[in-house]
Amino acid sequence: MSPTMILTPPRRAFEITIAPDLVQVPQARNAAFAIMQLWDMDQSLADDMRLVVSELVSNAIEHGLGWVGLRITERADEVRIEVSDFNPAPARVSCAQEEDLRGRGLMIVASLADSWGVSEDGYRTWAAFLTGKR
Ligand SMILES: Nc1ncnc2c1ncn2[C@@H]1O[C@H](COP(=O)(O)OP(=O)(O)O)[C@@H](O)[C@H]1O
Ligand SMILES: [Mg+2]
Repeated sequence: MSPTMILTPPRRAFEITIAPDLVQVPQARNAAFAIMQLWDMDQSLADDMRLVVSELVSNAIEHGLGWVGLRITERADEVRIEVSDFNPAPARVSCAQEEDLRGRGLMIVASLADSWGVSEDGYRTWAAFLTGKR
């Protein structure tokens, strides 16, 4: 977490807790998209955000443990998604081969977001988007 984030409270924030069942993923995705619309964010940002939320929440449900937290915050020129679960094992980009059906979620996150990472304790995966670029 950057020093700016610690000092600056978010301008807007949205937070939900999600039951650890994959049937919840569409709801999380739709909630994220609706929040982007409510906050008057650009359509392309809303589309990218929705996909990143979908991948991170799916990961937390599939690879994590327990209830999943989704937080979306806006600070200055940045929108940040944070997804947490109770598994300290960190999300790691895997080397999906051509024929592999899985293992591309974090690559999608890395290519759509302006930055992404995992908290030091491993519980939280985050992705940030610069709103000024859109
Ligand atoms: N929330 C998480 N908790 C623990 N491990 C995770 C989490 N998210 C991702 N991972 C690890 O990172 C790997 C890569 O995730 P991803 O690129 O989405 O591929 P996939 O979900 O298809 O395996 C996962 O296989 C898993 O080992
Ligand atoms: Mg995945």
